[in-house]
Amino acid sequence: MSKFYVEGERRADKVVDLFAAVAPRYDLINDLQSLGLHRLWKRRLVALSGAAPGKRALDVCCGTGDVAFALARAGASVTGLDFSEPMLAVAKRRATALGPGAPGFGVADALALPVPDASFDIVTVAYGLRNLADLDRGLAEIARVLKPGGTLAALEFGLPEWAPWRAAYRLYLRRFVPAFGRLFCGDADTHSYILASLDRYPAQRGVDQRLKGIGFRETRIHDLLGGAMSINVGIR
Ligand SMILES: C[S@@+](CC[C@H](N)C(=O)[O-])C[C@H]1O[C@@H](n2cnc3c(N)ncnc32)[C@H](O)[C@@H]1O
Repeated sequence: MSKFYVEGERRADKVVDLFAAVAPRYDLINDLQSLGLHRLWKRRLVALSGAAPGKRALDVCCGTGDVAFALARAGASVTGLDFSEPMLAVAKRRATALGPGAPGFGVADALALPVPDASFDIVTVAYGLRNLADLDRGLAEIARVLKPGGTLAALEFGLPEWAPWRAAYRLYLRRFVPAFGRLFCGDADTHSYILASLDRYPAQRGVDQRLKGIGFRETRIHDLLGGAMSINVGIR
């Protein structure tokens, strides 16, 4: 278990503490623990989102901004929102270096987006859904801010169906990934959090069911790495 995972009212506070601890090394650890593959998965996410010039895209739980920048490179006009100021500070530094056309970043809770109804063509969320204190409310907010016909694309850790691969993947998350936290953040709990949160997350098939349940059409699951990672797509 991780001290950053708690059930109930204090869940969000602990997630804020977690990302404050991780922010300075977040990008480096992502590269190391995925051997750079997260960059390919995020590129796939953006391709599936249909980002293009003239589209308005919202990246929820944007963190240090990888997906927001990729959406902007595809030509979309992009807003990135997150409730962690230390993560956003990294995103804003990167945006300054980029100049015009860079995404705009702001502080916001994914469970109460400060955004009008039906205002975006695209909503993306990468490694965010698993962290929400109330997944159903987060998905309802995404549905609310998407225009009819708009696309949600959500990348997250998944649950492989093939049992031997699932066991190997869980072993990696349990035995090896916490070492990144110990080494780079001085606390293994920052990364034992990943498995703790994944164990309480409905994963790609559960998210697909929920999307259908709130009226998304043409929902699809794109598994990556044998389902260890996955992208849920749905049309509002
Ligand atoms: C694992 S990071 C992912 C960052 C980025 N999307 C990426 O893929 O690199 C999860 C992010 O979700 C944010 N987050 C978690 N719960 C949130 C909430 N309720 N509202 C806004 N941001 C949230 C955290 O602050 C953190 O920056």
